[in-house]
Amino acid sequence: MLYRLARTALFQLDPETAHELALKSMCALGPAVALLGAGADRGEERTVMGIRFPNPVGLAAGMDKNGEYLDPLAALGFGYLEIGTVTPRPQPGNPKPRLFRLVEHEAIINRMGFNNVGVERLLRNVEKASFRGVLGINIGKNFDTPIERAADDYLACLEAVYERATYVAVNISSPNTKNLRDLQSKERLDELLAAIMARRDALAARAGKVKPLAVKIAPDLDDEQIGAIAELALKHRIDALIATNTTIGRAGVEGHRHAGEAGGLSGRPVFALSTEVLRKLSRLLAGRIPLIGVGGIHSGADARAKIDAGASLVQVYTGFIFHGPDLVAEARRALKG
Ligand SMILES: Cc1cc2nc3c(=O)[nH]c(=O)nc-3n(C[C@H](O)[C@H](O)[C@H](O)COP(=O)(O)O)c2cc1C
Repeated sequence: MLYRLARTALFQLDPETAHELALKSMCALGPAVALLGAGADRGEERTVMGIRFPNPVGLAAGMDKNGEYLDPLAALGFGYLEIGTVTPRPQPGNPKPRLFRLVEHEAIINRMGFNNVGVERLLRNVEKASFRGVLGINIGKNFDTPIERAADDYLACLEAVYERATYVAVNISSPNTKNLRDLQSKERLDELLAAIMARRDALAARAGKVKPLAVKIAPDLDDEQIGAIAELALKHRIDALIATNTTIGRAGVEGHRHAGEAGGLSGRPVFALSTEVLRKLSRLLAGRIPLIGVGGIHSGADARAKIDAGASLVQVYTGFIFHGPDLVAEARRALKG
């Protein structure tokens, strides 16, 4: 109810201003925000990738790109937070406008382009927070790093975040960084995962602690590509796959005044596509690698459907913009027991 009122006001503003205002207001409210969330419950705990999650409903990457809002976000009842995508060096992202609401479809098109303050400042922000829950740090490459050198950026970020992250998510699926999604091709992914896992193992030996590594993939993959990803995930002993990022498709939003905007589409229209990729991966992997389901969760039933399709955990982003903290509580209820 509270969120419905706030949403009416926020949706009068341009989407990027609304986003910042909403997050900043949560900070200003401080501990009072906790009233919106719900306390932990034993029956909600899950152990995935060797990590104990207080509940299986997480915040997807991209909402808190710089790790500035950990405490207020945690207070909303999420079982874990994934921050980023962060790149080695700060970068401004694409020119504005770069975020569009398709209200009738409960969808968003974004071409933010990894706007972020860089990995060192992200870590300083995280340091300032009192949050001690499960923290995923999602890493990417700078827009001006040639794709042939992409591994250098992932390795630099992995090294920097290793100690603080509970798990590290490798984003190779954003449609808004030129050629990034080419890293999902069999040859490039094989090379990239070999480099990343070798560095992870070296860091684990040095730190005396193995940090799980998850890979986030696109929904726009054919069966052959999905098969290759499953095979490589097994070969390189990846700890989890996150399915999925936004889609470059426009199915379900044809004719909308923003449908022609470049970028990734998220929210309700991506649900079926994203869940199908999840289901296919689940059939191929048969429980050998855990899956995190994200894409178009707008209700408790949607969250349940991701679990039924093979996910061990879920994440939300666009549904949270449209439904607020009630969605987190509803998804948690739907997944209890
Ligand atoms: C504005 C916006 C920014 C995003 N930024 C990132 C990002 O930086 N890294 C990433 O891995 N995913 C990013 N995503 C994708 C989401 O994490 C999620 O995978 C996708 O939106 C599908 O879930 P949803 O339908 O619940 O939004 C972004 C999504 C939106 C809407």
